[in-house]
Amino acid sequence: MRAESNQNGSEKTIIAPCVADPQDVSSECALVRPDDPCSIVILGATGDLTARKLMPSLFNLYRNQGLPEPFTIVGCGRTPLDHQGFRKKMENAVMSALDADHKTWQAFAKLLYYQTITYDDVSSFDHLKNFVKDLDKKNGTGGNRMFYLALPPSLYQPVTQMLGQAGLSVEGQEDNGWARLVVEKPFGRDLSTAIDLDQCIHAYFQERQVFRIDHYLAKETVQNILMFRFANAIFEPIWNRRYIDHISITAIEALGVEHRAGYYEQTGVIRDMFQNHMMQLFALTAMEPPSAFEANHVRDEKTKTYRCLRPFPVENLRDHLVLGQYRDGTIAGKKVPAYREEPGVNPHSLVPTFAMMKIMVDNWRWQGVPFYLTSGKRLARKLTEIAIQFKEVPHSMFRQTLGEHIIANRLTLGIYPEEKITLTFQTKTPGTRVRLRPVTMDFNYYKEQKGPVLDAYEKVLVDCMLGDQMLFWRQDGVELCWSFLTPILESCEECGDPGARLYPYEPGSWGPLEVQRLLKNASVVRSIERVPE
Ligand code: BG6
Repeated sequence: MRAESNQNGSEKTIIAPCVADPQDVSSECALVRPDDPCSIVILGATGDLTARKLMPSLFNLYRNQGLPEPFTIVGCGRTPLDHQGFRKKMENAVMSALDADHKTWQAFAKLLYYQTITYDDVSSFDHLKNFVKDLDKKNGTGGNRMFYLALPPSLYQPVTQMLGQAGLSVEGQEDNGWARLVVEKPFGRDLSTAIDLDQCIHAYFQERQVFRIDHYLAKETVQNILMFRFANAIFEPIWNRRYIDHISITAIEALGVEHRAGYYEQTGVIRDMFQNHMMQLFALTAMEPPSAFEANHVRDEKTKTYRCLRPFPVENLRDHLVLGQYRDGTIAGKKVPAYREEPGVNPHSLVPTFAMMKIMVDNWRWQGVPFYLTSGKRLARKLTEIAIQFKEVPHSMFRQTLGEHIIANRLTLGIYPEEKITLTFQTKTPGTRVRLRPVTMDFNYYKEQKGPVLDAYEKVLVDCMLGDQMLFWRQDGVELCWSFLTPILESCEECGDPGARLYPYEPGSWGPLEVQRLLKNASVVRSIERVPE
């Protein structure tokens, strides 16, 4: 399997065909087809997520023989529709997302059903229960069901309660097989709301039934971080405070808030990117080796890493956090609006669209090594990467002779757009004069891989059907990250003058100038300071 990114930045997974040659890893059969027959019940089936991501992914899995058999899709929404109306709507969605042939669509469409639902009415969920029971009998799906909350977050709790009260969360009783709940971020908007949500979910579902999605974990190159660190003997011995000066984790974007002002005004960059993707990238980089490549072993180690986060010095935010908001300007000759001028945004909004955070980890491995986490919108380009900056040589025998600054080694784990691992080091420049030059050694993640291409959402769906929680958030991790970030949010949002902490920045730039102050004396070469190619 390999990852590939298309123009809009979404991930692609390549599923290679099955072949006999065990040496040829490039062509191994990489798609694990789930054994258990099941149904997916999509709550919010007439919404954007279903049309843009879920239905194209399910269709693509179907045509690559990635779905179990039998399999049923039940769409639920408030909009009154019949099965045919829903199939037509989904056909339009899939045809505009993919290059799909009509015959395959016709076969796939037979798996689709629709139920109109009222989200706060338990009798409506009783109907749903009877409906899926009948389908189970008719199609042989064995009572195994995934409930996918493709809904606004305000509906997560009421809908979970309705599912529970209708008896749809229990397993192994009343014709039910397994029952799994799939939840999209945000998991609450601070520690207390996250705890409330978890309590509501756990009133009906056990943790092993809950799949909290973070699409960054479904990225091939993100999964590769663990392989790179723990399937090679040479990196782990130097992966610590003795050799590493600092680590930069960067996930920046060129796009603005687009059509998502309603959501973004309630979240801002810390809730949107840090409480999930950035914290996962951090954990994968900083965690100790798990004893087994198994969901709970891996998630235990991530949890331990979150426990080591040094509480943020909220009394001294200036030296650890820079927040910014993009103003209006010009990118490639085209005028772009300020965040506050985007449709749906409050003209006086104090919501940050950029954050850079310096975090410290209190354990033996990382004591004294800063992690710089940076994310923002409307910046110079889309870039996601983890840069490990090694220390300079302890003593340079060349420095005095050459008077040159010897650039320290740097290892970059590129996630987007370049899915590659790069190591920079010094070599001699050919010639009689003694000179050094920094060179890079690259591994390109695409290299020597072939096969059809699938979307990364498929990975999430398949893992959920397999019951594999490796790539999903566990409750303790969610709560520990909120415990770390909530005091920062409170301090920024509730102080007398939140605007004083928000620095404007030019669209298409590398963020507010204030980041330079935060980095002073840190000898930091962050990813986003590099001149774009
Ligand atoms: C989403 C955020 O979770 O991740 C978006 O809500 C952000 O604001 C997106 O643009 C970035 O994802 P990716 O895969 O394009 O880096």
